[in-house]
Amino acid sequence: MSNVVVVGTQWGDEGKGKVVDLLTERSDLVIRFQGGKNAGHTLVVGDKKVILHLIPSGILHKDKLCVIGSGLVIDPETLLEEIAALREKGYAVTTDTVAISDRAHVIMPYHKMIDHAREATQKIGTTGRGIGPAYEDKAHRTGIRMIDLVNPDLLRKKIDALFDEKQEYLTCILKVKAPDKEEMIEKFQAMGEKLRPFVTDTSVLVHRFISQGKNLLFEGAQGANLDMDHGTYPYVTSSNTIAGQACVGAGVGPTMIDSVLGICKAYTTRVGGGPFPTELGDEVGEKLRAFGGEYGATTGRPRRCGWLDLVGLRNSIRLSGISHLAITKLDVLSGFETIKVATAYRSGGSLIESMPADLEMYPGMEMVYDELPGWEENISSVRSFDELPAGCKAYISYIEENLGVKAAIVSVGPKREETIIREDLFG
Ligand code: IMP
Repeated sequence: MSNVVVVGTQWGDEGKGKVVDLLTERSDLVIRFQGGKNAGHTLVVGDKKVILHLIPSGILHKDKLCVIGSGLVIDPETLLEEIAALREKGYAVTTDTVAISDRAHVIMPYHKMIDHAREATQKIGTTGRGIGPAYEDKAHRTGIRMIDLVNPDLLRKKIDALFDEKQEYLTCILKVKAPDKEEMIEKFQAMGEKLRPFVTDTSVLVHRFISQGKNLLFEGAQGANLDMDHGTYPYVTSSNTIAGQACVGAGVGPTMIDSVLGICKAYTTRVGGGPFPTELGDEVGEKLRAFGGEYGATTGRPRRCGWLDLVGLRNSIRLSGISHLAITKLDVLSGFETIKVATAYRSGGSLIESMPADLEMYPGMEMVYDELPGWEENISSVRSFDELPAGCKAYISYIEENLGVKAAIVSVGPKREETIIREDLFG
């Protein structure tokens, strides 16, 4: 039995979906523990392309239980669409394969309206999916939970209690039209009806699997630098994205976790606003975007691109207690004459070796780069570390030595088989 947490080490979009999908083969249960529809995994299985926002990508495997934990904020409409799309593609979505926490929160239409309206002034560059406002209501204790959604009377009672305040905020402060209350209640009652069979106390379910000695995979979304406490606040998402949240959002204790796999793209990307120390506004950044197909799976926005940042990665390793790395999209770096890696930042003559909390410092910082030789070869057909070009092996070894963590997995292409597995985390 082994329990593995998978988290992003950068600003999200590191390729967690593919790695989770691969590790699912060795696990019995996969549980998402935070975030919501802001995340998006594009998976390529055979000729089929599947985009998932809420259901763990383990759903693409037979006989795996996929759990949506209490730490999520769920858009029921998206969830139902995802279920329908998966069924259409021939995947079994039943109560044997999907369970939803009765304590997870629901994203309501007014959350999305608030998110959109605030972007006009706040400019965080959110995904516009209502994530922040839904987590706000959770903390404010006015959130709607899945247990409310699936109980028509309870849902009506809860919405009745909060609606006037929402309406006033939307119309008087944000100057947008509030949703029609009755229409909203009826629509959500109907969706609750459809989702009811899947809703349960998932912490109990997860513990049942643990007591049976099964392998569990905890799937994070976004990345450490978007963590609400530890990221580049306020340019962060509204949940905790580091590994500790796996315990909170899945309902297990820290003693249940055996290893933490940090997913690290071979370079860095970010979508939305906020500091990005190694960002390249030149043709090298454009080349990374073009070669890496760096456009958001959720919003289609072009991602900002830059070199690997060891300062950020050291931060993530410390915050999440990362025991292993998965280096992804290494194939994208084929054809670069040299590859740069930021080892530290410099500001006003001083060396900075951890990410500053003060965002005012970022614009004036210079990057301290190491420059490594690149490689020409296409590496997507390589299946063992030894067969990789010398420059590529040196790049991986450089990362491992500088971070003190082994790269257990190296991804050399988007397909499942385009992967080098150097250590079995469930072994
Ligand atoms: P929100 O999560 O929609 O509130 O967006 C807050 C910030 O997190 C924005 O900069 C988003 O672009 C970013 N973000 C949220 N989810 C993801 C993701 O899955 N990948 C990358 N960035 C994300």
